[in-house]
Amino acid sequence: MTRVLVLNGPNLGRLGAREPEVYGSATYEDLVSLCTNEGSALGLDVDVRQTDDESELIGWLHEAADDRLPVVLNPAAFTHYSYALRDAVAQRTAPLVEVHISNPAAREEFRHTSVISAVATGSIAGFGTQSYVLALRSLATAR
Ligand code: DQA
Repeated sequence: MTRVLVLNGPNLGRLGAREPEVYGSATYEDLVSLCTNEGSALGLDVDVRQTDDESELIGWLHEAADDRLPVVLNPAAFTHYSYALRDAVAQRTAPLVEVHISNPAAREEFRHTSVISAVATGSIAGFGTQSYVLALRSLATAR
């Protein structure tokens, strides 16, 4: 079974409590269930992780690169300024889909820049937690 890492950056562990008018009422635990259930339906072994720590997230991207694992990545606020994360994504050896729950292009100006998009396989944003489902489906067909 193909393993997929679903990696989440800072503040995403607070889904449900965090600005529900922007990010919805689903909790992080709901997101984990959504991804693992969709993964089972698609025949993917999905490993969902979250960290507030840039260096831990970069370490997981190195692991994905070394093990040739496809990735769904929500870089959260790192999207907009982390060249270190961008350089880690650039080392990818398998497809990587950048996802966002909200649509950053429709929000504050600083969210209009993604330093990740140019090194991702593609990006999906604005569909709530369904963005992750769409990303997993795209990886299942990219195999
Ligand atoms: C986000 C959008 C980012 O701008 C924000 O910093 C996040 C979440 C999203 O999923 O909509 O933390 O990546």
